[in-house]
Amino acid sequence: MKTRILILMLFSSFLVLNSCTEDEEATAPVATATPTSQTITSGAATSISLTSSVAATTFSWTVVQAGVTGATSGSGSSIAQTLTITGTTSGTATYSITPTANGTSGSPVSVTVTVNPAASSAKVTYNANIKTLLASSCTPCHLTGGTHASKWDDYQTTKSKISGILDRVQRETTATGFMPAGGSKLSAENIALLKKWVDDGLLEK
Ligand code: HEC
Repeated sequence: MKTRILILMLFSSFLVLNSCTEDEEATAPVATATPTSQTITSGAATSISLTSSVAATTFSWTVVQAGVTGATSGSGSSIAQTLTITGTTSGTATYSITPTANGTSGSPVSVTVTVNPAASSAKVTYNANIKTLLASSCTPCHLTGGTHASKWDDYQTTKSKISGILDRVQRETTATGFMPAGGSKLSAENIALLKKWVDDGLLEK
């Protein structure tokens, strides 16, 4: 009987001791990221603040970028990084943030930042950009009074012939059909402008 009680006592004190140690280890911090997702314009900085359920928590993060540059892994109580898209379309940076307190790490939380192209990029229009571009490069042949039937000082004609125009101006200067005939190749900027006019929807104004 006595032995039984002794064993019981030993066992229960073991349980108490054991649960105490477990309690101490179980205080893993829970991280909160504010906001939990963010959308910024290319060239702008993220602003994500990190807080925790446990005092004196430190945060460290890793990041996976897609179509974005400028995001790096790091540590601190906020993420402020200038992100820029690498192409012309939106990209993302996905941060994985791990909180650590008293040597114990909590579960990582994830924050996705969407980076959109700069909204400032005004649309290319015929009246504002294309008419003068073609008038200065394709004169006199393709302007009213010129020798060629296709006239680039007319919006409808220019619009309907744009694929042919793009084809001709991108040919080798020595190739048959290169345009402007007898002239020099359009600058890369002007060719890009013609392409953007297509992308923007061939707007008149
Ligand atoms: C010196 C006169 C001259 C200049 C300058 C010139 N072209 Fe032409 N273009 C012609 C002639 C001639 C033809 C017909 C022969 C041919 O198709 O290659 C032609 C044909 C074309 C055609 C195919 C026919 C059509 O109507 O679709 C396109 C497209 C074209 N030119 C675009 C341009 C563009 C764009 C420019 C300016 C960047 C330009 N050309 C400058 C003389 C010129």
